[in-house]
Amino acid sequence: MLNDQKVVFSGVQPSGNLTIGNYLGAMRNFSAFPDHKCFYCVVDLHAITVRQVPADLRRRTYETLALYIASGLDPEKNVLFVQSHVPAHAELGWILDCYTMFGELSRMTQFKDKSAHHADNINAGLFTYPSLMAADILLYQTDIVPVGIDQKQHLELARNIAARFNGVHGETFVVPEPYIPETGMKIMSLAEPTAKMSKSDPNPNAVVYILDDPDTIMRKFRRAVTDSDCTICRGEGKEGIANLMTIYSCCTGKSDEEITAEFSSAGYGKFKEAVGEVVIEALRPVRQEWTRLMADKAYLEQVMKSGAEQAAYYARKTMSKVRRKLGFV
Ligand code: TRP
Repeated sequence: MLNDQKVVFSGVQPSGNLTIGNYLGAMRNFSAFPDHKCFYCVVDLHAITVRQVPADLRRRTYETLALYIASGLDPEKNVLFVQSHVPAHAELGWILDCYTMFGELSRMTQFKDKSAHHADNINAGLFTYPSLMAADILLYQTDIVPVGIDQKQHLELARNIAARFNGVHGETFVVPEPYIPETGMKIMSLAEPTAKMSKSDPNPNAVVYILDDPDTIMRKFRRAVTDSDCTICRGEGKEGIANLMTIYSCCTGKSDEEITAEFSSAGYGKFKEAVGEVVIEALRPVRQEWTRLMADKAYLEQVMKSGAEQAAYYARKTMSKVRRKLGFV
């Protein structure tokens, strides 16, 4: 990038309603790179690896873009765009398929999980999902990829693909580094705190959506599964409390020690309400801004268009290098 500016890339799928896991765990951390060249993408090509209702996919694409902006990413300073608007993603995805091994893809835990959940639709795209993700990243000569811990394996693979391609054809791609902040990257289900909070969870009490109103948020936190102990700290069998501590910490910036001290004489009920309160307050401005943006489709479309143009400019540079290296005429 110009002036040796480091490049940041990340993506969020426009599938399912967005949760506080997406916000606290990922999107909010995207603002941490004010001096970098940042690309944030709505990965609709990835979303179709699982069947989508077209009207829902379309709406969620706008919603995800609006959430990027509402969580503090200024479209004037960051490249915000939709993956399918830049065809080079699919093109490089195919090329990288040819530099990705069947065995590597077979070992991906997300593939194993998703094929268990969608046994009637184990399509080739679900299998090659990680090489498309590698294409997203490598297309922009990305240095840093902020992701949740669950994406670490995919990122390792992207690094291997980049190194393999560079090994065969000479320096072509920057080998990207993951950026996984200590707290917050993995928010767990409120009902089953050993599982990730997932936007597609069928149990509505397990998941807090960004659009939930304050009463709903409070009700969900009051019902959060905890344990039969009564101290507010992390430990064996205390995944529920640990998750609430993570959420509280994300919203307040307090450390585990501070939280334990603050609630040393409080019961779980009090703590759950306190977590509900801070989440409601953290989400309030985001929800307001998001609602305002969702009413302004024309503005969102203008952001998408300008983002895609900028992204395509950088993608084109990488693609011409790749084509030359491969021997395409
Ligand atoms: N696989 C990521 C997820 O489900 C989304 C994603 C697609 C992504 N392409 C990416 C994340 C590139 C980071 C970089 O969360």
